[in-house]
Amino acid sequence: ASVPVITVDGPSGVGKGTVSRGLAARLGWQRLDSGALYRILALAAVDAGITLSDTDAVAALAGGLDIRFTGDHEDNEAIWVNGRDIKSAVRAEATGGLASQIAAAPAVRAALLQRQKDFRVAPGLIGDGRDMGTVVFPDAALKLFLTASAEERARRRLLQLRAAGQDAILADLCTEISTRDERDRTRTVAPLVPASDAILIDTTHLNPTQVAERVEGLVKDRG
Ligand code: C5P
Repeated sequence: ASVPVITVDGPSGVGKGTVSRGLAARLGWQRLDSGALYRILALAAVDAGITLSDTDAVAALAGGLDIRFTGDHEDNEAIWVNGRDIKSAVRAEATGGLASQIAAAPAVRAALLQRQKDFRVAPGLIGDGRDMGTVVFPDAALKLFLTASAEERARRRLLQLRAAGQDAILADLCTEISTRDERDRTRTVAPLVPASDAILIDTTHLNPTQVAERVEGLVKDRG
């Protein structure tokens, strides 16, 4: 039998990371933070002086990147790219915007596809992103799609940035989040949409514990 996968998709700042880290820790499964791969590739392109609109050149960089996530399932893991820990640059809000620019390109998505599938190793994988359930792991055993209002997501992102020692203005975050969502939703390849067999969870009025409880209930139902 193939290695089981649970996918957690949804827009930025909705809490996919928290949910998938929690599940991975409890089940003892691997975790794929697919957004980090797009972020890392965007940073590598900027570093190499490549214009982000030159998507073939960006895609060509992907194969040469040695990417390693270390640490446990906590968010304090390091992100090593070609031997350097670039976690704080990867997590920066502006990097999310760069990532979503390159993520609209079919060549870029194709270049990262196999790398994402390679995270599927026993005993199981929790994959979070935008197209985990639709494109990368269409045969996942359980597909979750989280939503929340843009205002609530901006508020959560602000708390997350502050916890990481960064700061931002709430209204700016809300605009950035809405712009990024719009780009992710309307792109022609792998747009941000729930898989037809995904279970939608609106988290706007739920705290992390309540979301975790609901998710745990769904995981148990699937045996
Ligand atoms: O989830 P995160 O905010 O780290 O993702 C950054 C950007 O990478 C997203 O806005 C999206 O454009 C892109 N992405 C994607 N497909 C994924 C994960 C992320 O297109 N599976």
